[in-house]
Amino acid sequence: MDGSNQTHPSAPISLLAAIRQGAGPRHRVRVLGGGDVLCGEGERLLIAIERTGGGGVLVGCRRGGCGVCRIQVLEGTYETDPMSVQHVPEEERAEGYALACCVRPTSDLVVVPAFKKPPRRARWENTGEISPQTNEVKAEVKQ
Ligand code: FES
Repeated sequence: MDGSNQTHPSAPISLLAAIRQGAGPRHRVRVLGGGDVLCGEGERLLIAIERTGGGGVLVGCRRGGCGVCRIQVLEGTYETDPMSVQHVPEEERAEGYALACCVRPTSDLVVVPAFKKPPRRARWENTGEISPQTNEVKAEVKQ
């Protein structure tokens, strides 16, 4: 014994740790700029990143709503839970963009953090005109 707190590689993991990691195979996920993470089958990637202390990916709501955990998957296969279209539009999903809190790896992955600020909500501006047909005030969308 060297007095360190490291666990022996063959030591059984606790039941709680096993539940957190998910049952079955584990997938190695390389987070570019953040290190490697082991993610259990069916486990959400962001949870695995948090559990292992892997860096590089921001943590927010953990439910697919805020977009801060946005990543791009460069290699590997995965499934996703429902994700905000505002943060990951359909066309970007085909390019591997996803929210780490919604990604469940089905193979080893290579990912890169890809946070971007979501587009601002469109503002409506009153034009001052009144529609003669409906008596409603007209408005224009401003970006
Ligand atoms: S942490 Fe908010 S969308 Fe993933």
